Amino acid sequence: MKKRKRSDKTLLFLFKGLITDYMFLIFGGPDGEMGASMRYLSQRYAMPYKEGKAILTDIGTEELAHLEIVATIVHQLTRNLTPEQVVESGFGPYYIDHTTGIWPQAAGGVPFNACEFQSKGDPITDLVEDMAAEQKARSTYDNILRVITDPDVCDPIRFLRMREIVHFQRFGEALRVTQDNLDSKNFYAFNPSFDVKTKCK
Ligand SMILES: [Fe+2]
Repeated sequence: MKKRKRSDKTLLFLFKGLITDYMFLIFGGPDGEMGASMRYLSQRYAMPYKEGKAILTDIGTEELAHLEIVATIVHQLTRNLTPEQVVESGFGPYYIDHTTGIWPQAAGGVPFNACEFQSKGDPITDLVEDMAAEQKARSTYDNILRVITDPDVCDPIRFLRMREIVHFQRFGEALRVTQDNLDSKNFYAFNPSFDVKTKCK
């Protein structure tokens, strides 16, 4: 990311802790990049079809790269804060625990927790969760883009938002592949990663 002077408006939001709160939300929050990468890289094992397994692995790995992007933005927004700005911005409680180090938590200070995602061992259940997760992440990025103007933050956020839309589409393809492999009479009574197919007929 290029070094550029932050606009007054961005500084105003920064003092309120808004940008850093949003960044933490997408770093370690319930709709964040860490949860996304852990969700897909955990779910891939129960996916019985190679196309679906590849999609989960690809996207889970990409989300790890997004985690790095978001962590870098948080680092760049916080590394030069003065003690006065730490107090004014509401960043104080985080600062006491972590100074300006990067630690995965949600905007409200809740630490990242694996309970924020599921790995249900049922590909249809998992993929429907994944599609919802991508839309929730996209909505979060929409919210961020409504309140910030700094191009150094907006540009990578626009890129991340675009990727969430692509991920939503790709999970839709994985769902179609999964359903194509099922007995159509038993979409909701058969788990292809667990049941033996003949039992459902
Ligand atoms: Fe995504």
